[in-house]
Parts: sequence; structure tokens; C-alpha cells
Amino acid sequence: MAIVYLNGEFIPADKAKVSVYDRGYLLGDGVYEVIPVYAGNAFLLDRHLQRLQNSLDGVRIENPFSDAQWTDIINDLIARNNAGDQSLYLQVTRGVAPRDHIFPIGVAPSVFMMSNPLHPVAESWKTDGIKAITTADIRWMRCDIKATTLLANSLMKQLAQDAGAQEALLLRDNYLTEGSASNAYVVIDGVIFTAPKDEKVLPGITRDLIIELAAQNDMPLHERAVSESAMRNANEIWISSSTKEVVPVTLLDGEIVGTGKPGQVWQQMNVLFQRYKQEVS
Ligand code: PDD
Repeated sequence: MAIVYLNGEFIPADKAKVSVYDRGYLLGDGVYEVIPVYAGNAFLLDRHLQRLQNSLDGVRIENPFSDAQWTDIINDLIARNNAGDQSLYLQVTRGVAPRDHIFPIGVAPSVFMMSNPLHPVAESWKTDGIKAITTADIRWMRCDIKATTLLANSLMKQLAQDAGAQEALLLRDNYLTEGSASNAYVVIDGVIFTAPKDEKVLPGITRDLIIELAAQNDMPLHERAVSESAMRNANEIWISSSTKEVVPVTLLDGEIVGTGKPGQVWQQMNVLFQRYKQEVS
């Protein structure tokens, strides 16, 4: 039985219970992080904790812990679930209070954390790429906050699933924002493009690393939004996330992307990413 962390206690998952009045449950009033754990080390933890702070600030929940306290609890939970590579999920909700849109006063946030085995993506995702669909980005205008309120993302990801695809790429005003659970990249004539950091995309931790790796290795990359038509004519499309790393998209709405095989720029970035991961783990 996996051990989870709930409000100060490490307990078996089936013993973890929260109140029906928790605002996370009633209102989706909370924020979260997903952190990959390689060989027992939480990957890029300081960056995830910084983004958590930004999300908490964005929704005006006080951070219940210092970074040192978060790090201790996270490492403790990883050790208690010593099952190789893990995907650590943590969420902070505004806490338990009678249902009201107005924030309650003097209520302690609820903190929940779990760590599950992290399964690498199927080998075929890297040798052949994945299928994606496009759909209208139906989310709110604070996508930079990693909120637990994921109904729009879930609806869009389900559209992909229904179409036999692995991800939905989201279009807002004819421009690509990101994926339903990933950041997105387009390669045109050897130049990588990804939407800039603003309220329309999540500032992905994997995205930041990709941008740094590109800069360090003289791979041209611009943080600039790409139009739908440019995307449809692109040589390569990729997605990235903490649990999937960097994955090429080779079929978009049933149309072949580039050569229909994972592209050379993706290959180069994937090598750099895997090397970096090995070094820091
Ligand atoms: N999601 N954009 C969205 C909408 C996401 O949900 C995610 C990740 C990303 C990538 O961010 P990062 O590289 O920091 O994982 C971008 C996680 C994995 C999830 O919700 O499970």
C-alpha cells in the first residue's frame, strides 16, 4: 500500500480522508505540482517549489511551508515509497470551510501528497511519435496558475482520447497555446518556437529546461506564438511535460507532420534532455 502525506501525517493511501467541506472538493479551490523523481531524487525540485509559490500567490493561499520544510516532507515521502522512479503529486487547497465563494478567514490550507511509480512513455512514442488533435482552448485566462480545477483540460484530453490520439493541442484566437497537459513546440526550418510565458500557458518546468538546453547548444529557439496555419505546415511538432519528457507529434488531425517520423531537431533535444537527466540524477 502506497504511503501518502495528508495534513502532517504519513499514512496508507486507503486511510487518507478529507472533509466534504474541503474547498478543493467543493470549488476546485487549490493548486498543485507534479514532480518527477528519478533514482530517488526529485528532479528540478527548487523550480517546482518556486512555481508552487507563484500559483499560491496567484490564488492568494498562504504557503504553509518553507522550501526546506517542503523538501524534507517530499524526500520523506519518496523514501517511504521506495519504488524506483516516481511521480510525486502535491496539492494545497484553501482548506475546510462552509461553502461560500468568499475566502474563509483563519482557515489552514489542506496539504496532500502522493508518490506513484513513474512509467516511462511507450518506446513507440519516441520511435514513431504520437497522434494529436487540435481543439479550441476553452480554459480561463490564468493558465499560468497550476490550479487543480482541471475540468477544461480533462474535457480537451478526452476529445483526444476519443479520436484515438494522445494529446490535444489547443488553439486560442488561431494561435497554438499548449497541450491539454503539456507545453507545445513547433519547428520551422530548423528554428524551434514555443508560446511565450503569459496567462495563456502554464510555465512548464520541462519547457524552461528545453529553452536552456537549446541556448547552451546553439539551437535557435524563440518564445513566440505560432499561428494555426504555421503549425500545420511545420517540419516538427513536440510536446513536453514532467511525466512525459519531450515527445514528438507525427500526426496532427490525421495529417502527417513533416516527414511523418520524429524530426532531427527533436532527436537532438531528446539526447540533450536525457543526458541532463542522467547527470543530475
Ligand atoms: N501537467 N501545460 C499544462 C496545461 C500541463 O498540465 C503541464 C503538465 C504542462 C507541462 O509542465 P511541466 O513541464 O512543469 O510538467 C504544461 C502535469 C504533468 C499534470 O497535470 O499531470
